Amino acid sequence: MNAKITLAKEFKTGEIDKRLYGSFIEHLGRAVYGGIYEPGHPAADENGFRTDVIELVKELNVPIVRYPGGNFVSGYNWEDGVGDVALRPKRLDLAWGTTEPNTFGTNEFMNWCKKANTECMMAVNLGTRGADEARNLVEYMNHKGDSAWADLRKSHGYNEPWNVKLWCLGNEMDGRWQMGAKTAVDYGKLANEASKMMKWTDPSIETVLCGSSSRNSPTFGEWEAQSLEIAYDSIDYVSLHQYYDNRSGDTASFLAKTLELEEFIYSVICVCDYVKAKKRSKKTINLSFDEWNVWYHSNNAPYDKWSMAPNLLEDIYNFEDALLIGSMLITFLKHADRIKIGCLAQLVNVIAPIFTKTGGGIFKQTIFYPFEHVSNFGRGVALNPIVECQKYDCKEFTDVPYIDCIATYDEEKEEVTVFAVNKSQDDGAVLDINFMDFEGFKPFEFISMDGFDKNAENSFESSPVQPHNNALPEFDCGRMTAQIKPFSWNVIRLKK
Ligand code: AHR
Repeated sequence: MNAKITLAKEFKTGEIDKRLYGSFIEHLGRAVYGGIYEPGHPAADENGFRTDVIELVKELNVPIVRYPGGNFVSGYNWEDGVGDVALRPKRLDLAWGTTEPNTFGTNEFMNWCKKANTECMMAVNLGTRGADEARNLVEYMNHKGDSAWADLRKSHGYNEPWNVKLWCLGNEMDGRWQMGAKTAVDYGKLANEASKMMKWTDPSIETVLCGSSSRNSPTFGEWEAQSLEIAYDSIDYVSLHQYYDNRSGDTASFLAKTLELEEFIYSVICVCDYVKAKKRSKKTINLSFDEWNVWYHSNNAPYDKWSMAPNLLEDIYNFEDALLIGSMLITFLKHADRIKIGCLAQLVNVIAPIFTKTGGGIFKQTIFYPFEHVSNFGRGVALNPIVECQKYDCKEFTDVPYIDCIATYDEEKEEVTVFAVNKSQDDGAVLDINFMDFEGFKPFEFISMDGFDKNAENSFESSPVQPHNNALPEFDCGRMTAQIKPFSWNVIRLKK
């Protein structure tokens, strides 16, 4: 198969906000306990943080981490997780049917962020609680001066404010599974008031309104429109969440889910701009894709109700999952002008790229690698190339391009990176890439993941699914001919 790709600097879709490469830690399963935090583990530091996990988080180069949920946050009393650990209450977490010991809380998380070179994207509870508790948390976290909540923080040993800049106004408030689920109008009013008060407490923060819990939510579209009409002026982003699965075992349809993703993103942009038009507003609301991943492998795994940190949502990912993750990242970059925040859900153990054994080792899941590549090399601006290639039909979609492709251009480093997925399970492809105005640029690295069975996985014992380096593609006068394998993830890097 041949694919003709044309690339030029003018094909810019937008500046890439580094927060597009964020992730997520929820008090869920072994994400915190046995994941990022495990006092007594041989790799734990003086704070009980697993340094083997921190090393891999640094490799992923994750600029923000959403915390503490997820569904968990909708029943969370943040005050339970601060101050003297010995005095913190154990609570039932109704979201996941577990017991939360609260031995790890907000300040511990902020300390962990510092060590992991990342920043916190904090979610407030708008399920069982309201605007008052939310603004108190902003005061506790961000207020420098003398006030009851800031003084409480100081009395906990944190004299300087944490200055958390990004705040989620609840989580999936449209979902019937959510503690304190609401109608769009009720949520819009609450989010509006909470955001106003949080910003009056600290005008430097930005807030994220909950969009629908997925594109399949029965109120999708209407939810965004109604809640935005109420809260438009006081919020900055609207959230999107989407997980994909391949329960049917139809790989061609699974990899084609990016067409649906594309529709989803486009629809949310349209709703935001529809409300903008109605309001004759000068302000543009951007998108925060703050939960996305593949999620299904672990769905029916049993666990003990009300136990602490059980093995929940521990998907072990295979090679085809890694290809979909690569394609999803490409899709996000195509909308870099509007998607400013992204959170791969989640980061450790719970539907995550990093997997640990409590008391034991660690390994990188298959999905670790495409995320690592895009997060590290996909900086600067996104360039959407013209791709002419064969298409396929499958059960769920028609006209699916075999090749997904995006390029990023880092002007400062004078680097261009081309990311491409070949969705064909049988045919390799020759990419004939015309770099129109990149004089002096030459390829210096060609990384790929290919040759694996679609079900191949990594484990503690062995990690066969890894990227490898290839011979550099032929390159002459701005024309590159790159041979890519069937069913592959590809990263071609050029510099001046
Ligand atoms: O990431 C797992 C869960 O998925 C989150 O808690 C929730 O927000 C979503 O439904």
